Amino acid sequence: MKDIIIIGATGLVGNTLLNILEKNEFEINNLILVGNKNIGNIIKFQKKDYKIISLESSLQLNLINPIIIFCTQTFVVKQNYQKYLNKFPNCYVIDNSSYFRQTYSIIIPPLNFHLLQNQHIISNPNCVTAGLMMMLYPINKNDKITKIRITSFQSVSGSGHLGQKQLISEQNMNYSNKIYKKQIYNNVIPEIGEIMNDITEEEQKIIYESKKILNNQEIDIYATCVRIPVMSCHSISLEFKTVNNISIDEIKQILVNVKTIKITEELPDYNLIVNTPDIIITRLRKHNNSVFAFISFDNLYRGAAYNVYEIIKLLL
Ligand SMILES: NC(=O)c1ccc[n+]([C@@H]2O[C@H](COP(=O)([O-])OP(=O)(O)OC[C@H]3O[C@@H](n4cnc5c(N)ncnc54)[C@H](OP(=O)(O)O)[C@@H]3O)[C@@H](O)[C@H]2O)c1
Repeated sequence: MKDIIIIGATGLVGNTLLNILEKNEFEINNLILVGNKNIGNIIKFQKKDYKIISLESSLQLNLINPIIIFCTQTFVVKQNYQKYLNKFPNCYVIDNSSYFRQTYSIIIPPLNFHLLQNQHIISNPNCVTAGLMMMLYPINKNDKITKIRITSFQSVSGSGHLGQKQLISEQNMNYSNKIYKKQIYNNVIPEIGEIMNDITEEEQKIIYESKKILNNQEIDIYATCVRIPVMSCHSISLEFKTVNNISIDEIKQILVNVKTIKITEELPDYNLIVNTPDIIITRLRKHNNSVFAFISFDNLYRGAAYNVYEIIKLLL
């Protein structure tokens, strides 16, 4: 039984995490839900009402070594994580933002939970990295990957509730809720995050995190990230090469043991993927010693909240 604080419980990732925890009947002692604009609102969890409280109020509570989960933007983590460490010295902090990804191990439980050791701050990966690594990490263990090229197709939920709000508004011909530089309805935007020296923030995150998780700084990796007018779920068009020119049969043999990965010849269907931890790999093929594949998954579920859930399970 643990005390759990979810900061950003009203956002897309926080809400998805609550849905996962609710289904799995976790034994939670105290569940504390923290928000900002939604303070005072009620969220139902396992048939009980929970009031959203402020971050400052959560710091007044007497809790025992809580697990603190940040489902907020980076600046909220930066300004506040130390207050929690001071108040609850033996707590665990799990961060969904990118704030700690350069300083602490990025944990994906089925792949690298051994890195956690005595670390009390735990970084969750970027959503694209999470889906990509679930496929590439086990392959890389068998035959070292030398080159990766990806193009991502990322839904608006990747930008949080404001991304979904812009798409829905524009579908209704209201163009006032703008977080993207361009209209997203009926459009594509090949730029996610600020762009510097020809590379966007999102592309940089994927490149940095993949090298770190695969523990290979030499890997030749490059990415193009595209925002598309879809409410939820991301896809990745992937090309990669390995030292020993891995075959499709070998890849299938390796991935058959990875729970939640499904290799199929069927086309992906976001209606079936949403709210699941599944990673659908289709169009798996080879051309000129490169492997090609198309990967689809729910960015909020597989790409964020389910990873947190798997970490919590191991901490309990
Ligand atoms: N969306 C994805 O696919 C995805 C995937 C992986 C990682 N992430 C990362 O996860 C984090 C959350 O993303 P999201 O998509 O869930 O964003 P979101 O839908 O915009 O939710 C943001 C949440 O943060 C809360 N918040 C903001 N300022 C706060 C403050 N000062 N004190 C307490 N709570 C505060 C908001 O509360 P109110 O609503 O009450 O204002 C809301 O619950 C981000 O760092 C994001 O980069 C997102």
